[in-house]
Amino acid sequence: MTDTAKIKLELKNVRKQFKDVRVLDDISLTVREGEHVTVLGPSGCGKSTLMNILTGVLAADGGEVQVNGKIGYMQQKDLLLPWKTCMDNVILPAQIAGTKKEAAAEQARPYFKIFRLEGYEDSYPKEMSGGMRQRASLLRTFLSSGDILLLDEPFGAVDSITRGKLQQWLIDVSGTLGLTILMITHDIEEAVLLSDRIYVLSDKPASVRDEIPADFLREDKKNRLFHTGFLEIKKRILTDLAGE
Ligand SMILES: Nc1ncnc2c1ncn2[C@@H]1O[C@H](COP(=O)(O)OP(=O)(O)OP(=O)(O)O)[C@@H](O)[C@H]1O
Ligand SMILES: [Mg+2]
Repeated sequence: MTDTAKIKLELKNVRKQFKDVRVLDDISLTVREGEHVTVLGPSGCGKSTLMNILTGVLAADGGEVQVNGKIGYMQQKDLLLPWKTCMDNVILPAQIAGTKKEAAAEQARPYFKIFRLEGYEDSYPKEMSGGMRQRASLLRTFLSSGDILLLDEPFGAVDSITRGKLQQWLIDVSGTLGLTILMITHDIEEAVLLSDRIYVLSDKPASVRDEIPADFLREDKKNRLFHTGFLEIKKRILTDLAGE
């Protein structure tokens, strides 16, 4: 992907406050087609608010918001409904949008293999592992998106071994399906592993403290952990977050 790739998401000087609390001060960011962009920032700085503005759940107080495509949004703690099967959970957004159940299931079925859920179509969430539930949530988001995925802490609720596997899996799926992703995470190493670009936000009221291109091993992200570029960017992020 190059700088000439189509812009899918763009925020320019976006501001937001709730009553007298200023949350977003001046946020500008861009996501291009096929990019994986990550937003890192302190807890409570306004990251989920940013996602809510991109999806139109909240209105910005100022600045420009541009979305070129259809967004699928996986909210922080996006849970599967325990009384519905895996298939019924993943086709729920399509059903709500008016697609018949059988048609929605036919559309969804081929993706169960890619999302490593094959054979679990009729299982209930309690019969699935944490990693599988997370992949089912991602599949639901993917199926409801046209071409842009917004992921708010997608791997926040799983243990570190499962998390590592999910990260490696996402690298594969992202390549296979050519996904455009804007992701929020608290995990610095996750950001460096997965991203093409990283935005580091300041404390609330949040502004963009740093924009870091992660250009190394772009076609071989699975080996990033063992590359010096990994530590260089990790150090830069830690310095950014420590700054006043
Ligand atoms: N609808 C709302 N009404 C009033 N205040 C809100 C609302 N939504 C968020 N806030 C406040 O805005 C600030 C930012 O919240 P937000 O959830 O965006 O942070 P965050 O960066 O996603 O945090 P975390 O990393 O903990 O998920 C917080 O102080 C929160 O209390
Ligand atoms: Mg949040």
